[in-house]
Amino acid sequence: MNISVTEAIEDPASAGIIPEKTDHAAAVDAFEGTIGENIVDDPKISTRNVDVFYGTKQAIFDATLDIGRNEVIALIGPSGCGKSTYLRALNRMNDTIVGCRVSGDLVLDGENIYSKKMDPVLLRARVGMVFQKPNPFPKSIYDNIAYGPRIHGLAKNKLELDEIVETSLRRAGLFDEVKDRLDAPGTGLSGGQQQRLCIARTIAVSPEVILMDEPASALDPIATAIIEELIDELRKNYTIAIVTHSMQQAARVSQRTAYFHLGKLIEVGDTNLIFTNPRHELTENYITGKFG
Ligand SMILES: Nc1ncnc2c1ncn2[C@@H]1O[C@H](COP(=O)(O)OP(=O)(O)OP(=O)(O)O)[C@@H](O)[C@H]1O
Ligand SMILES: [Mg+2]
Repeated sequence: MNISVTEAIEDPASAGIIPEKTDHAAAVDAFEGTIGENIVDDPKISTRNVDVFYGTKQAIFDATLDIGRNEVIALIGPSGCGKSTYLRALNRMNDTIVGCRVSGDLVLDGENIYSKKMDPVLLRARVGMVFQKPNPFPKSIYDNIAYGPRIHGLAKNKLELDEIVETSLRRAGLFDEVKDRLDAPGTGLSGGQQQRLCIARTIAVSPEVILMDEPASALDPIATAIIEELIDELRKNYTIAIVTHSMQQAARVSQRTAYFHLGKLIEVGDTNLIFTNPRHELTENYITGKFG
């Protein structure tokens, strides 16, 4: 990424220099607000005018985006454009980063995500997250899944807990591969299995929304295909926002796509249209591989 372009957007005047303009920088400067369908009827999550700062550095600028019920929305854009930052704002994972500040309206089913009444631990059960690198707990496969239901008191007895563990592993497409070794450590599974274990762990606390930050980028094509099929299956019951660097993957799994560029939400729309007929020059440049 060209750092001088970032500075040019933030405040060229205060920097005292006007950097040499490329067509690309001019296109970023000309940005006048998100184009496309960033707002939907009856959203699951609604975000308005979201700014995110790390200390004095702004990482997200005035993003307004809805996430519809039972949809998979893909968040795409060049490295450093703020995809992970935006995603983490949705379940307050940014709270854990010192110096990170989020402003704007972020609402989950009518409830303010940043209200004092919102318990971040409960919020993260409702809005679960799967990371790029599978991060199973150093516990057995069984206990990886049972951990959340135990702390949230979701099972009355061992039988109910067993049932949650089995159902979650089945939904994540992993049960048959691990049913004979539930007591074995989760860290002993293959990368693709570990990622499905993490998805099962997320599902086990009955989330409403699942945020996935490049969930398949460390996996081989077979494990990736399994995760992609799983995402399609999960959409029936959950709302999913997925960050991906693979445009093929975004096209395969999502119904709507949001394109971010240098912290700005440039364009949102039907995935097929974004990839075949992008309206903004920056989106077009990215999807045609001119930069990114
Ligand atoms: N913990 C942090 N502290 C300070 N700055 C951060 C932090 N995390 C991210 N940033 C900055 O915020 C901006 C957006 O970063 P973010 O990680 O959200 O981008 P991204 O689109 O997810 O990139 P990638 O595709 O590489 O994962 C970048 O300029 C990054 O350097
Ligand atoms: Mg990221």
